[in-house]
Amino acid sequence: MTDRIKVLIVDDIPETRDHLSKLLGFEGDIEVVGVAASGADAVAQAVALRPDVVLMDINMPDMDGIAATELLAARCPTASVVMMSVQGEADYLRRSMLAGAREFLVKPFSSDELTASIRQVWTRERDKMSRFTIAAASPASGNGSHDGEPGTVVAVFSPKGGVGRTTVAVNLAVAAASLGGKKVALMDGSFQFGDVGVLLNLNPKNKSIVELAPELEAGELESLDNFLISHSSGVRVLLAPPSPEQAELVTAAHARRVIERLRADHDLVIVDCPSTFNDTTLAILDTADLVLTLLSLEITSIKNMRLFLKVAEQLGYGPEKVRLVLNRADSTLGIRVADVEHSIGRKVDHTIVSDGRSVVYALNRGVPFFLSNREAQVSQDILRLATAVAGASPANPAAAADKASSKAAAKKSLFAWR
Ligand SMILES: Nc1ncnc2c1ncn2[C@@H]1O[C@H](COP(=O)(O)OP(=O)(O)O)[C@@H](O)[C@H]1O
Ligand SMILES: [Mg+2]
Repeated sequence: MTDRIKVLIVDDIPETRDHLSKLLGFEGDIEVVGVAASGADAVAQAVALRPDVVLMDINMPDMDGIAATELLAARCPTASVVMMSVQGEADYLRRSMLAGAREFLVKPFSSDELTASIRQVWTRERDKMSRFTIAAASPASGNGSHDGEPGTVVAVFSPKGGVGRTTVAVNLAVAAASLGGKKVALMDGSFQFGDVGVLLNLNPKNKSIVELAPELEAGELESLDNFLISHSSGVRVLLAPPSPEQAELVTAAHARRVIERLRADHDLVIVDCPSTFNDTTLAILDTADLVLTLLSLEITSIKNMRLFLKVAEQLGYGPEKVRLVLNRADSTLGIRVADVEHSIGRKVDHTIVSDGRSVVYALNRGVPFFLSNREAQVSQDILRLATAVAGASPANPAAAADKASSKAAAKKSLFAWR
């Protein structure tokens, strides 16, 4: 990729193409390398011109933007598609994401929105490529615990709410800290309705990610440490804004920068994600090395998981990045684990038992169950997950074997992220 962002404009209406070209002509860091009037033309030009970003109209007469995006994913995978549509419905967004689009702009949009989207997808792609390069170039360390080494970012995600993300994220962080020798950060990425503070009984004044927004806007991030709260377990916590309307002050770019800084200072960064699929969630998932994707034995959870796995594939997240965690795996709801695996076409990687008594008691006291009821099966399951994620436990022969294994094999492993 060169310094200037190469953009291909695709729209069947000549005036729109001219207008977009003119708008982008004012931007020093963006270069319009071509314009196309149809989906077929777009694919041909993209293959020839290798743009970084394709601005794609969704409604076109011959081949629509979604079909063209699907073709581009195969023929020109280095081009990131920004979809443009007059409709902003969830279904359009979902279909675009499934086709491989990275951003979605609803017409009419301002020139600021346009350029911000282009820069965002480009930065995201460039960061991803550089991470791949770093990961491929550096020998697998296996433990990731030495000072100065960037840590592992683990996103705890689920395409459906109420499946146990916050419960797992909080207890996982505490369990990972208990393994010893690991500097662990926990970020509440659920900016609108963050619950991490409740589960850990933390309610400080003016200490959340929103206080960092002015610094992030100014392009600096100097006082992050002042806003991290030290929990008695040793976990350092960055809370979500205290009220939902403040969530919009934290952008996708902010979230990415904060996570990268946390990664630089910690061995393990655990992020509790929202279940909504927007640019902020995407930024978190993209930045993560590992996406622990939670599901439960419910039809809706399984259906959403199937869709998410398709999106994940389009985003280039392999099975080594997306790990499936079945929460409340022993619930007797008429669906068996084997049924779930059959339905989503993949094995579940980890299971956590249901234990309403320990979980709710812990919730009401504001003490994670991993600390108050360590012997419970649910705590043992969390510990196993933490050990796998942290990867350095001698109790885990797979991790030890991994260190000695070849780079190719290590890349496939859950334990050797960098
Ligand atoms: N393993 C479990 N056993 C019993 N209850 C659980 C378990 N995991 C989560 N829960 C309960 O399920 C509900 C949703 O959990 P929560 O972590 O808030 O989900 P999310 O963050 O995905 O919305 C909470 O009431 C929580 O106590
Ligand atoms: Mg939650």
